[in-house]
Amino acid sequence: MTTLASSTLAIPQNADVPRHVAVIMDGNGRWATRRFLPRAAGHARGVQAVRRVVEACGKYGVEYLTLFAFSSENWRRPEDEVSLLMRLFVQTLEKEVDKLEEQGVRLRVVGDLSAFESRLQTLIHAAEKRTEHNSTLNLTIAANYGGRWDILQAMKRLLRARPDLASDPQAIDEAAFGEHLSMAWAPEPDLFIRTGGEQRVSNFLIWQLAYTELYFTDEYWPDFDVKEIDAAFEWYRSRERRFGRTSAQLAQSR
Ligand code: FPP
Repeated sequence: MTTLASSTLAIPQNADVPRHVAVIMDGNGRWATRRFLPRAAGHARGVQAVRRVVEACGKYGVEYLTLFAFSSENWRRPEDEVSLLMRLFVQTLEKEVDKLEEQGVRLRVVGDLSAFESRLQTLIHAAEKRTEHNSTLNLTIAANYGGRWDILQAMKRLLRARPDLASDPQAIDEAAFGEHLSMAWAPEPDLFIRTGGEQRVSNFLIWQLAYTELYFTDEYWPDFDVKEIDAAFEWYRSRERRFGRTSAQLAQSR
């Protein structure tokens, strides 16, 4: 089995610590509103939670951590909040890249980056380049990302690379398609975490979440700490990951 086995084509390896954790960091705005603070304060505190989670995942041996920072749909927010979030990304990248480098973290950003101002795009590329030799933790920030966007761009890239497939669609298979997804280099997430009380996937990695364990917590993202990570990982360990098999088959294969 290859390390990137598709969960629908083969049975991925299973371990106590999730190899890939994907997170929707929700509840920054509500965290702030509850304290009669501007929403910006919640996003700023959200950055501190990102730092805590990156450190803890590195320590626990998680190989891939993917954070949903800005969805394709977040452009619908008031203009001042969008520009605040952009400023926060720029400041965080400028401030944190040295620390990521020290911690052996490889940073990548996925999503349609063409919509971002060129300064931010330049910073992103520089941070990716600077950390590309690291391998302790693969940290991916999904920015202007949407799962449907990803599926469509993968199909476009596949047809551009293999124009012959347009007249032979039967020949299109999961493996050929999957190679063009924006996170083709990562295994599918084992554990998905969403903070803030909502129980939905919100167009995040929708192709890759096919067999991911879904964990929801009412805690707002700025309050998400090591205790919360421990609770999510403990819940993950309690899950029986069958990938379509029966419990009896699973017991036999152990
Ligand atoms: C969702 O909370 C959060 C966001 C849309 C932004 C996430 C950004 C950060 C955590 C900070 C920057 C991160 C990086 C990686 C630099 P919400 O505003 O939707 O909260 P609400 O549902 O309570 O309104």
